[in-house]
Amino acid sequence: MTDRYAVIGNPVAHSKSPFIHAEFARQTGQDLSYGRLLAPLDGFFEQVHDFRAEGGKGLNVTLPFKLEAFAIAQELSTRANDAGALNVLKFEGAVIFGDNTDGVGLVRDIASNLGFRIAEREILLMGAGGAAQGAVGPLLHARPKRLVIANRTPAKAQRLVERFRGGGRFDDVAFTSSAYSELKGRQFDLIINATAASLNDSIPELPEGIFAPGSLAYDMMYGKTTPFLEFALRQGAGRVADGTGMLVEQAAESFLLWRGVRPDTRSVIEALKV
Ligand code: ATR
Repeated sequence: MTDRYAVIGNPVAHSKSPFIHAEFARQTGQDLSYGRLLAPLDGFFEQVHDFRAEGGKGLNVTLPFKLEAFAIAQELSTRANDAGALNVLKFEGAVIFGDNTDGVGLVRDIASNLGFRIAEREILLMGAGGAAQGAVGPLLHARPKRLVIANRTPAKAQRLVERFRGGGRFDDVAFTSSAYSELKGRQFDLIINATAASLNDSIPELPEGIFAPGSLAYDMMYGKTTPFLEFALRQGAGRVADGTGMLVEQAAESFLLWRGVRPDTRSVIEALKV
């Protein structure tokens, strides 16, 4: 029998995940189907249980259910536990296993696809919601010199920093929170936009001159040049990238978790860019 997977969200009609997973399945010769599940805003748990009862093997979870997915999982990977949000569920017998592949997808795109070395660099992460939560652990694991989380509501950024403090895991990284206004006069090698600002065609209030020479500006949103990336180009960032590569890399990590095979991402990223 063909194994069934899907992406669950609201809205979900725009999702490129069915295309990506169909490409991965074709490439690796895996027998699976991958669809879209539109869950009512108050009906996430029910949809997941129905899909599972019908024999579904796994789900990708997208907005706005990444926190609810965290509550539904019975077992978690370390990175999912760190993030406090999930984008993957795997149904293994009686157990619902949860993972977060967003952050590792981001870091793989930046490091492997874009060839940007994170170690020893100065990184600014903008936003403190679910998207930023997933990115922090994998960014810290890549050992930057400094990671600053800036947010419109600075207290939320500070709470996110505190989640990762303690335990001594990342004591070698200078890791702090900031308001946007406090960034005046500073420069970063990599600035990542994990805010929802691009959805409203707006941009966090970054000061002028914040991009170091040769820096990379990365927007997690994909499919268009966002106001943040336009600002970065005007401000002299060395390079800009949208989130297409992250989308494909998080999908590849999900596929690996479900199927035990890592698909090739480069051809799929290229296919999505045209
Ligand atoms: P997600 O799960 O996609 O991260 P979220 O939890 O609603 O969504 O978080 C959205 C993030 O985008 C937050 O960091 C939010 O800042 P606040 O915490 O201050 O609300 C940020 N954000 C949204 N619109 C923004 C804008 N126009 N300028 C700056 N930050 C914005």
